[in-house]
Amino acid sequence: MKPLRLLLLGAPGSGKGTQTSKVLKDFSHIKAISSGDILRQQINAQTNIGKEISRYIKNGSLVPDEIMARLLETELQRRRWLNRDASWLLDGFPRTFTQASKLDEVLGKSGANLNQVVELDVDQKVILQRIEARWIHLPSGRVYNLDYNPPKVPFKDDITGEPLSKRSDDNAETFQKRLDIYNSEIGPLRDYYKPKNIFHTISGNSSDIIYPQLSRYLSEKFGS
Ligand code: AP5
Repeated sequence: MKPLRLLLLGAPGSGKGTQTSKVLKDFSHIKAISSGDILRQQINAQTNIGKEISRYIKNGSLVPDEIMARLLETELQRRRWLNRDASWLLDGFPRTFTQASKLDEVLGKSGANLNQVVELDVDQKVILQRIEARWIHLPSGRVYNLDYNPPKVPFKDDITGEPLSKRSDDNAETFQKRLDIYNSEIGPLRDYYKPKNIFHTISGNSSDIIYPQLSRYLSEKFGS
């Protein structure tokens, strides 16, 4: 199997976290980092950086590029992913042009550049309905949806039995701001990755449409 270094792009609520969990189940050699989970863990641990980050997330803004790039570089080093044999998936980073070029700089030093970028293309009207029904298990980042993927016991995590919570940035006003920011950042990111011939879009609105396409695409390109 060829090493896979995948970036999953998509609007907030498009299902990046959900698709990541499915990939991790089916492709056991792949590991994943979710930028949102890393940030929420910092907030939860009440670190100094977590207190600063919390202000940005609560009002739906992006965390500044330099903070994000530093956190992600540290995490990539800690996990020893900066080598060309490693297979991994990034969910939520990079999400600006500046972060993308910074990431390439860091990865380029180890010869382990991204070799696949997949954009999930989901109708944004559908996304707004999903967010109202989303609940998460904060310590693990596991995501539930009261309609599509409900927990076995209402409002409890399936694995630990701990209570689920609503994200502070999942209210209508903040969510619309996150969508607007995504829509302004995605154009430059597409322009950055498309000429590298590693960019692929998967479109679909329903639960059964996106994952079979993603799984087939990754198997064909990288083996399973
Ligand atoms: P982050 O946590 O990355 O949030 P996001 O990108 O806004 O994406 P979401 O987690 O909201 O959604 P998702 O696409 O993972 O969808 P999910 O699978 O949950 O970032 C949060 C904040 O952190 C940002 O706003 C920013 O402030 C900051 N941040 C993070 N990274 C940053 C960076 N690189 N730079 C700067 N700042 C950064 O699915 C959504 C719901 O739909 C769930 O309930 C799910 O169960 C349901 N669902 C999923 N798929 C389906 C389906 N096929 N059918 C029906 N329901 C479905």
